[in-house]
Amino acid sequence: MTYQTTTRLLKVNPEAPEPALIAQAAQVLRHGGLVAFPTETVYGLGANALDENAVSRIFAAKERPASDPLIVHVSSTGELSQVAMEIPPLAWQLINRFWPGPLTLVLKRGLLVPPNVTAGAPTVAVRMPRHPVALALLSAADMPVAAPSANLFSRPSPTTAAHVLEDLNGRVDIVLDGGPTTVGVESTVLDLTQTPPCVLRPGGVSLEALRRLIPDVAFRAKYAAENEQVAAPGMLLKHYSPRAQLVLLNGEREAVLRAMQAQARAEQEAGRRVGFLLVDEDLPLLGQQEGIVESLGAVADAEAVARRLFAALRSLDARGVDVIFARALPRDGLGLAVWDRLMRAAEGRIVDVE
Ligand code: TXA
Ligand code: MG
Repeated sequence: MTYQTTTRLLKVNPEAPEPALIAQAAQVLRHGGLVAFPTETVYGLGANALDENAVSRIFAAKERPASDPLIVHVSSTGELSQVAMEIPPLAWQLINRFWPGPLTLVLKRGLLVPPNVTAGAPTVAVRMPRHPVALALLSAADMPVAAPSANLFSRPSPTTAAHVLEDLNGRVDIVLDGGPTTVGVESTVLDLTQTPPCVLRPGGVSLEALRRLIPDVAFRAKYAAENEQVAAPGMLLKHYSPRAQLVLLNGEREAVLRAMQAQARAEQEAGRRVGFLLVDEDLPLLGQQEGIVESLGAVADAEAVARRLFAALRSLDARGVDVIFARALPRDGLGLAVWDRLMRAAEGRIVDVE
C-alpha cells in the first residue's frame, strides 16, 4: 500500500536554512512522517530511523523492495553511537577525515535500530551529510534519520526538488527545496565489517582518497549477477535506469563516436528517437546528427560531469527518447562513480568498440 498524503514544498535557503521552516520539517519527522531534503549528494527521503512504522513508509513511498537496506543519517557522533556499536578505530579516522561528507560507513548495527532499516542485516550504514539543510534538519529533529535517495525505486536519483516531486508528489509530507545538489552522485559506501574494508558503491569520496588512509581497500560493487543475496536477479543492475534504453560504448574516443553515429543512424532508420549523453569535447566530433544531445560538461571537469549526470538522464527521458547512447569516460576520481551509474543505467548493455 502506498502512503498517500498532501505534499508541501518549502523553499529554503541552502546556505542558511530558515529555522522556522526547518522546525516544521523536524516536527513532521518527530511525528513519524516523511521529509525529502537536500544533501550534498542527492535528495534524501527521510524518516525517523528509530521508528519502524515511519521507516516502512519510506519503502512504500519509493516502492522499494524490503531487501534493500537504508542509510542512517546522523548530525553528531553521539547519534552514531546510538545506531552502531563496536566502532573500530579506523572508523574514527575516516570520520575525522571525511565527515560531514559523502562517505557512508557500514558498521555493526546498534540495538535500537529497527530491523527494516537494515533489511534484517546485522550491519548498519551510517553517514553524516555536509549540506547545511540536511544538518539543520537532523539536529532540529534530534534523531537519526533513515534516508534513501528520494526517487521511485530504479529511477535516477534526484538532484533537484523538481525531480523529487516528479517521482514522489503525494507520497511525502514535505519537500525541502534547497536548490540543486552539488556532488550529484550518491555517497561512497564503505563496509568496515569486512577485512580488508570494501567499497560496495563508488561515490562522492574517491577510491584514491580512501587509499590514502586504507592502502588495501577493496572495491566490489554489488551488482546483482554477482550477489546471491539479491532476491530477484538483475534487480540492482536496474538501478538508476532512465525509461529509455541506455547503451554505453567503451573504447578509444574517436572509434566510439564513429560507432555511436552508425548505431544511432540505424536506430533512427528503425523509427526510434535517439538521445546522446556526451561531454563538450565530443560534440564537434559527433558531427551532424539528428537526435537530442545532452552534454555533461568538460571531460576534465569530473565534478561537473557527476553533478549533471542524473538530471541529464531525466531530461532525455522527459523528451521521450527511446535509446540513449553514452560514451564511457575515464574511471579515476569521481569518474568511477559516474561509470558505475552509467553501467547500471545500461543494465549491462556495454559495447566494447575496437
Ligand atoms: O548519498 C547518498 O548516500 C544518498 C543520500 C540521500 O544520503 N542516499 C542513498 O541511499 O543513496 P540509497 O538507499 O539510495 O542507497 C543506499 C545504499 C544501497 O546501495 C544499499 O544497498 C547500501 O547503501 N546499504 C545500506 N545499508 C547497507 C548495509 N547494512 N550493508 C551494505 N550495504 C548497505
Ligand atoms: Mg538510491
